[in-house]
Amino acid sequence: MKTSRSLHIMCSIPVFCWITATVLEHMLTTEQRGELPKTLTDMYSHFLLVQTKRKKNKYHEGHETSPQELTEADREVLLKLGRLAFEHLEKGNIMFYQEDLEQCGVDVTEASVYSGVCTEIFKRECVIFQKPVYCFVHLSIQEFLAAVYMFHCHTNRKTEVLKMFLKSESLIRRIFSVFDNKDLQSLDVFMSRAMENSLQSKNGHLDLFVRFLHGLCLESNQRLLVGLLGQTAISPGTIQRVINNLKKMNSDEISPDRSINIFHCLMEMNDLSLFQEIQEFLKSENRSEKKLSEIQCSALAFMLQMSEEVLGELDLQKYNTSERGRQRLIPAVRNCRKAGLTECGLSESHCEVVASALKSNPSHLTQLDMSKNYQLQDSGVKLLCAGLESPNCRLETLRLINCGLSKISCDYLAAALKSNPSHLRELDLSWNNLKYPDVKQLSDLQQSPDYRLESLRWS
Ligand SMILES: *[C@@H]1O[C@H](CO)[C@@H](O)[C@H](O)[C@H]1NC(C)=O
Ligand SMILES: *[C@@H]1O[C@H](CO)[C@@H](O)[C@H](O)[C@H]1NC(C)=O
Repeated sequence: MKTSRSLHIMCSIPVFCWITATVLEHMLTTEQRGELPKTLTDMYSHFLLVQTKRKKNKYHEGHETSPQELTEADREVLLKLGRLAFEHLEKGNIMFYQEDLEQCGVDVTEASVYSGVCTEIFKRECVIFQKPVYCFVHLSIQEFLAAVYMFHCHTNRKTEVLKMFLKSESLIRRIFSVFDNKDLQSLDVFMSRAMENSLQSKNGHLDLFVRFLHGLCLESNQRLLVGLLGQTAISPGTIQRVINNLKKMNSDEISPDRSINIFHCLMEMNDLSLFQEIQEFLKSENRSEKKLSEIQCSALAFMLQMSEEVLGELDLQKYNTSERGRQRLIPAVRNCRKAGLTECGLSESHCEVVASALKSNPSHLTQLDMSKNYQLQDSGVKLLCAGLESPNCRLETLRLINCGLSKISCDYLAAALKSNPSHLRELDLSWNNLKYPDVKQLSDLQQSPDYRLESLRWS
């Protein structure tokens, strides 16, 4: 497992360990050893096959077919489950009623036969009635089946479904006008749009879905799911275009956490170039000279965030990159003690990431400098305070010099300190055009023996 970074990281998730154990146990105890899975898509494709095979053994069906192949009936059920998975993923639903299953043509007995994939649980609906509720064993299985279904719809030209997903008529026309070319030239246009959709999601509900979608472009995964995806023959040129599009992808308003998913998609497509570039960068002596692209910054942010060692200091000004590149490095604050995020155009989505770092358990940050982010303002401080007030937050120094703040920010900060009084010692709010009455509450806290606040600057 350790040889594949993307799989190894997932091992902190219990259900993933179970999926992996199921797959590896099967592969190592049967004659079909072959190569062990290296990517998530690979692992989940194997899981689907293993579960299908188990179902066959249990119900003594399909002795005449090869155990590695899905029968027509299997494919039908899996696509129906895929449709259920996709339609509800878009809406953010993870629980379904019998009506939902029926609407996608899923027979309830079929679903329970596939009980390794779709499990039935019971949930009290109200005081008197009990109604069966269905869900996938884990959200990631729902995301995988949704991706399989969407890929199938693309290869099989299910225009209506694609319209619903891509939300653009002209794009559909463009995709289908080049479709007649057997090579599926349109795939890269389709994948770009799917990626954009996922980046715009606030909570990342399509992150894993697009990762799987990218993984399914690879021939090795398509071979496993033979028949499920439809007739596909994707040229190396198209694959390369999908990869190049990922590397160039950008938009002003995406959260730096979402951007990291672009890196995961590249890993899912077995493109390790970015990973290797960053490993080299981390080893090099003259790091501050090397110019980093935005996607390289996302990859670096991910690797710093996942590093077993807590970083002493993250100073964004020390990286040779664009402002957007610096912003993409912000998720690394989750794994460092001192963070310098000065003068890099921080906005609300960045404050949310910093707040999540302050709230996390354990939280390592003790010094944070966000000065000269002129657009930060009171709304940014409000988000930041959601982290500051957390009992996990151990921040000792906070600098918000010249961030366009008003009295409202002072009130948010005072309220946060009241929830978590025992860490912050130094607060610098200079150059925000504050007057004494604005900072009165904070100044009172500074005088009180119940608070650690020693230094308060505001003029
Ligand atoms: C940043 O990178 C560019 C391109 O490699 C280089 O020309 C420039 O000198 C670097 N800047 C710094 C401050 O090192
Ligand atoms: C960094 O140093 C190495 C040699 O130590 C050199 O080959 C390389 O060009 C330098 N990189 C930059 C960006 O200056």
